[in-house]
Amino acid sequence: MSDTSVAIRPGRLDDAEAVAALLEPYIARQIVLPRSAADIRRHIANFLVAERDGEVIGAVAVRDFGGGLEEIRSLVVREAAAGAGLGSRLVAAAVELARQRGATRVFALTLRPGLFERQHFLPVDKSLFPQKVWSDCILCPKRYRCDEIAVLLDLTP
Ligand SMILES: CC(C)(COP(=O)(O)OP(=O)(O)OC[C@H]1O[C@@H](n2cnc3c(N)ncnc32)[C@H](O)[C@@H]1OP(=O)(O)O)[C@@H](O)C(=O)NCCC(=O)NCCS
Repeated sequence: MSDTSVAIRPGRLDDAEAVAALLEPYIARQIVLPRSAADIRRHIANFLVAERDGEVIGAVAVRDFGGGLEEIRSLVVREAAAGAGLGSRLVAAAVELARQRGATRVFALTLRPGLFERQHFLPVDKSLFPQKVWSDCILCPKRYRCDEIAVLLDLTP
């Protein structure tokens, strides 16, 4: 897959079903948090999608926790397109979106810390993000056996 054949652009309402379909197998395996097409549609302004030949093959979302803190979430690349750098491009694009929105810190909870560490995120303790724990982790099927690693990027100059 050549990099230039894939465009990363803001999500549109009519992308919601395709993004939900990309996430679905990973939700079933408890790799990403559940998100329905309706929920994606409601928060579509927070999404970026990767499109190749008119098809959505990847996605990522940001979430504003206030106080300059944004989370990168719902990161997914279609399995057949994985391993060619698109996940890293989506992380970089999400950081840029968060920066444009005024973020000073961007975090993620992930099973793939390498993806983020290559973009200069550092591993940190999950307890730094009580807002996340109380809004999402509390509903997560893995809440008592969380295997995710928290990573943080400080954007302050
Ligand atoms: C995780 C996921 C988004 C990665 O997408 P991808 O397009 O394969 O990502 P990349 O091609 O940028 O990187 C994949 C691998 O290529 C290799 N790679 C990519 N760029 C590299 C570089 N510059 N140097 C060395 N290795 C590199 C690494 O092995 C990397 O795996 P790692 O990030 O775990 O170390 C995708 O596999 C996916 O959708 N997985 C299921 C959902 C999921 O896990 N989401 C993440 C939740 S935070």
